[in-house]
Amino acid sequence: MTASASTPRTEAAFAAATEKRRLGVGLVSVGWMGKLHSRAYRNLPFVYPDLGVEPRLVQAADPVDSARDYAQHVLGYESTTADYREVLANPEVDVVSICAPNFLHAEIGIAAAKAGKHIWIEKPVGRGAHETAAIREAAEEAGVASAIGFNYRQPPAVQFARQLILDGGLGRITNVRGRFFGGFNSDPEFPLAWRFRRELSGSGVLGDLMGHLVDLTHFLLGPIASVTATTGTYITERPGMPGSPDADKKLPVENEDFANMLIRFDDSAAAAGALGSLDASWIAIGPKAEYGIEVFGTEGSFRWNFERLNEIEVAYRDVNGGTYTRMLADASFPEFSRFQPSPGTPMGYDDLKVIEAKKFVQSVLGDASESSNIHDALASAQVLTAAEQSAESGQWVDTPVVPGNTSNVRKEGSN
Ligand SMILES: NC(=O)c1ccc[n+]([C@@H]2O[C@H](COP(=O)([O-])OP(=O)(O)OC[C@H]3O[C@@H](n4cnc5c(N)ncnc54)[C@H](O)[C@@H]3O)[C@@H](O)[C@H]2O)c1
Repeated sequence: MTASASTPRTEAAFAAATEKRRLGVGLVSVGWMGKLHSRAYRNLPFVYPDLGVEPRLVQAADPVDSARDYAQHVLGYESTTADYREVLANPEVDVVSICAPNFLHAEIGIAAAKAGKHIWIEKPVGRGAHETAAIREAAEEAGVASAIGFNYRQPPAVQFARQLILDGGLGRITNVRGRFFGGFNSDPEFPLAWRFRRELSGSGVLGDLMGHLVDLTHFLLGPIASVTATTGTYITERPGMPGSPDADKKLPVENEDFANMLIRFDDSAAAAGALGSLDASWIAIGPKAEYGIEVFGTEGSFRWNFERLNEIEVAYRDVNGGTYTRMLADASFPEFSRFQPSPGTPMGYDDLKVIEAKKFVQSVLGDASESSNIHDALASAQVLTAAEQSAESGQWVDTPVVPGNTSNVRKEGSN
């Protein structure tokens, strides 16, 4: 069954396609994320059989021969191409995962939406808010569904924490402290890959890690209204890429490897009135993927760190003298029992992408969905752009709330 090149398939069209609602998947870029998206689609029918969807890996694009071989012979795509445009023109493709380097996000995202394909696109969704906004406009015009690779929203412990805040279990939120610290770029001999070049990546650690942290903050606490930030570049040059004419030279790093910001929340936020600080580094020695957030309220607090994704520490003023208690994710946490039968048996990173895929497919089908979307991507990108402006000027910069975002907003009638 084929879809028109310009019209997204509707639920009825899926139903007509086969009894099991086959979903034609296209992939652009078969790198780390492209492989992960593909495994997530493949796992969907096992983890969420009630979704009634059978993903079919139709076509993958990558200019690198070995990546295309992997897509076809390991991941199981029916065909491959070096040119992503073929994937977008393929009438058997309903949804497209865009896992390309940042400089291609806008070009591919806009073209995919215009071709009527629903898009699951990796963060930071372009090289800055202007590109994210252009993809958003194209997606809105075409009426296609969207999901963003904001996977740190998905751990059951994080979803538990969001509900805790919304239900008022921590009282009035007063303060948040977030840090996304990794060391994967801490070796100065690591070459000048696309992530360190403005033209190809846009910002550095701001887009790469801070974008995740800003989204996590939006998801847990609500829209950020204004920021002031500082940024720094401490590894200022790196060797050229192996095999390139510059391999023997040292070339300048063009974006920041550390960023921090102070934040204030919008009045609509679940954490309205709270203050916070967010830090990100990709050159920190010690932390590997210490992506953590601590939230403090008048009645209690929690802290969570991705390196221990299956647990959360919660403290309540009147319990155990207000000290932290460690909770392991269990069946009472959203999604956990889809993956494991009992607490202590951990979920992993891949599982977060399966949850993300499920929510994306629900929004494609027009079902109720808690998927992130292109409005969330713009909300995060706007904060990062404001942070860059603030780092230049030394001033606070406002960030208008983006309509359609899914951040945690205050319940009607709460303080
Ligand atoms: N959600 C997350 O936690 C997370 C983690 C890592 C990366 N990312 C994001 O995912 C995206 C990809 O990152 P990655 O780590 O998978 O990169 P990667 O370097 O592993 O893979 C990039 C792939 O893109 C391919 N490519 C290059 N030019 C292309 C073109 N013209 N058409 C199609 N493919 C092309 C390359 O050959 C390579 O296979 C980035 O935007 C990155 O920020 C997100």
